[in-house]
Amino acid sequence: RELGEPAATPRESWWRRERDALLKLAGEASPRYVYSLDAVRGQARALRALGAVDRWHYALKANPHPAILRALHEEGFAFECVSLAEVEAVRTALPQLAAERILFTPNFAPRDEYAAALALGVRVTLDALHPLQHWGELFEGRELHLRVDLGSGRGHHDKVRTGGDASKFGVALDQVDAFRALARERGARITGLHAHLGSGILDAGHWRSVYGQLASLAEGFSRIESLDIGGGLGVPSRPDERALDLAALGESLAEVKRAYPQFALWMEPGRYLVADAGVLLARVTQTKRKGGVHYVGVDTGMNSLIRPALYDAWHEIVNLSRLDEAPATMVQVVGPICESGDVLGANRRLPDCREGDVLLVAQAGAYGAAMASHYNLREPAPEVAL
Ligand code: LLP
Repeated sequence: RELGEPAATPRESWWRRERDALLKLAGEASPRYVYSLDAVRGQARALRALGAVDRWHYALKANPHPAILRALHEEGFAFECVSLAEVEAVRTALPQLAAERILFTPNFAPRDEYAAALALGVRVTLDALHPLQHWGELFEGRELHLRVDLGSGRGHHDKVRTGGDASKFGVALDQVDAFRALARERGARITGLHAHLGSGILDAGHWRSVYGQLASLAEGFSRIESLDIGGGLGVPSRPDERALDLAALGESLAEVKRAYPQFALWMEPGRYLVADAGVLLARVTQTKRKGGVHYVGVDTGMNSLIRPALYDAWHEIVNLSRLDEAPATMVQVVGPICESGDVLGANRRLPDCREGDVLLVAQAGAYGAAMASHYNLREPAPEVAL
């Protein structure tokens, strides 16, 4: 099978069942992001079933849609935020939420954001020495979490690996002593350790090793209560990728938890909860054949979904208007943006596409709308949550 060929047995997905409703929505307005809150809840419940994890946070950078925040709150999730605006988005969607259910884990944020987060009472994670060195008065008498760089990164692409010398995140292991001394000097208590090595990890053994490393590091501290082993839980996208083995993840976490029962185990996934719950619907605008290449143009592109351009990310694409027709031609699915990189799907075999057909770009619920732009002054696709 060529890479662009549809999988022999398509993956089960909510959008196949909801095809008529989606065609109707696209008929009203295109392009459009559509989210299934049931699908979000389904993923949330699968994770909550892993008993070893004491507290789950949703990394809302993946998709801060308020209906998703409310659904995940109902499913028992706390929230991980990387900017003050994300903290405010959670507080607006969930005004009754206790501030301690919010983690603030920014990177190179300005002083004012830490001051505001502390004033709100959210839990603050530092990932550099600078804040303690230069803004020590902010942290006096506070509880803090420390993000460490365990020395290596993981993930689906170089650009999403967040560990190792080439990464700007975290305090290096050889600076942890200096951090601890500074915290003591400033009268701050370190009560949590945190590590997130990257995004899109499909190897179930990864988090167990992070927990083990954080647990041994925690022995050098006196008051560590929680170990946050990050997010990064991957979802398979290319037809040949295998899903993360959740049962194996649960077992390996239960095992390390038995070895170090004194710490609360925290995780903070984003993608896993929302990726498959979202699709991008777009209409065919024009088709073109040039130099033996077939192009199918749609009414939105990298302005709505930049992942293929930025990471060569693979998103399944189907012609929703002709879901039952056999794939015919190998095409390049492109958007209307003035960049050669504005390709949503390269080398895809689709049924013959005509102007007005609705194409569905799958797995667009994570880092889709959240990373959209107004490039070329083309509005990104608006969102609707079912
Ligand atoms: N925690 C921290 C500290 C993070 O930086 C991230 C993601 C997460 C949790 C959630 O990671 P997840 O479970 O979603 O993998 N735009 C890229 C992904 C960048 C992830 C950034 N940090 C993409 O579209 O693949």
